[in-house]
Amino acid sequence: MAATVRFHEYGGPEVLRLEDVEVGEPGPGELLIKVDAIGVNRAEVLFRGGHYIEPAKRFPARLGAEAAGVVEAVGAGVTQFVAGQVVSVVPAFSMNDYAVYAERAIVPASAVVHRPAEVDAVEGAAVWMPYVTAYGALVEVGGMQAGDTVVLTAASSSVGLAAIQVARRVGATPVATTRSRVKQEALLKAGAADVIVTDEEDVADRVLALTAGRGAEFVFDAVAGPGVVDLARAVAPGGTLFLYGAVSGRETPYPGFTLGMPALNMRTYTMHETTRDPQRLRRAEAFVSSGLRTGAFRPVIDRTFDLHDVAAAHRYMEAGTQVGKIVMTVGH
Ligand SMILES: NC(=O)c1ccc[n+]([C@@H]2O[C@H](COP(=O)([O-])OP(=O)(O)OC[C@H]3O[C@@H](n4cnc5c(N)ncnc54)[C@H](OP(=O)(O)O)[C@@H]3O)[C@@H](O)[C@H]2O)c1
Repeated sequence: MAATVRFHEYGGPEVLRLEDVEVGEPGPGELLIKVDAIGVNRAEVLFRGGHYIEPAKRFPARLGAEAAGVVEAVGAGVTQFVAGQVVSVVPAFSMNDYAVYAERAIVPASAVVHRPAEVDAVEGAAVWMPYVTAYGALVEVGGMQAGDTVVLTAASSSVGLAAIQVARRVGATPVATTRSRVKQEALLKAGAADVIVTDEEDVADRVLALTAGRGAEFVFDAVAGPGVVDLARAVAPGGTLFLYGAVSGRETPYPGFTLGMPALNMRTYTMHETTRDPQRLRRAEAFVSSGLRTGAFRPVIDRTFDLHDVAAAHRYMEAGTQVGKIVMTVGH
């Protein structure tokens, strides 16, 4: 048995229960992991509330796609892992099939990566979702390179902060946005070349001024909603507006016609494009691991909670005051 977070109906953080659940043995292609730390992501908050892109197929439902821990048992056919190895679980599966908000969990081996020695459990649960999301869109799909400018909305999020470091790693210029001035200093310290405060400034005007009128080669947007019209104005001809999140919770228009049909690429992106493709995942793993080894990538941890305080961790994420990753730790 393992303490496992479940919810029996959609709702606020109060629907989350820590319940003893039979874990079982790993089947073919699976691993049993002793979980030491768990990355908390917006996807879980949305899934719990019934607002995620994929609904819960059954109740009680479970949560969690990102974790760090130790391999306890290996299923048939798994050759790349042995019991005792320290690993991270990368979001590469549906929470209807597997879930890691638990003391122990079974996961597909294809969603597990070796954890570099210099990365502890808390960092190991905070690295993969942010860095692979940023790398997959901007480098793998977008081909971002030295000299490019990338505008990062909600840049204080874990993905936004990782994207700042990914941009720096390839020699691109990261321009961060945040709603209020409160996080401005923290974003500059985190490596942003400039910070645009969206409650006070026009994003497109600032980006055009910063790029000598050219616009940014990439906009990496976690907010969506009506703001995309202004963001599209900030994109250089032929550049790409990636929509990877929708924290605004509002309808998102297509701005191409309003803006006179510019050469605008606008596409949605999820990290599953990278994590569910074995070759892309290997390239992402190499890129992220090398950044961790050289110190170019340092995950920013905002706050840790004990697994027993899972409802508080969700409330904290919903409050939106974090700068970086929220992680839950598991006492064994
Ligand atoms: N596509 C993918 O594969 C993928 C992977 C991971 C995450 N995501 C998405 O990426 C986004 C960021 O995720 P996260 O877990 O790193 O952080 P998060 O907690 O969802 O986002 C944090 C930041 O978003 C900003 N924000 C919150 N509410 C907002 C609103 N109504 N309007 C504008 N900005 C708002 C706040 O920054 P300021 O206060 O500084 O404005 C806040 O600090 C989420 O939408 C998540 O679903 C997508």
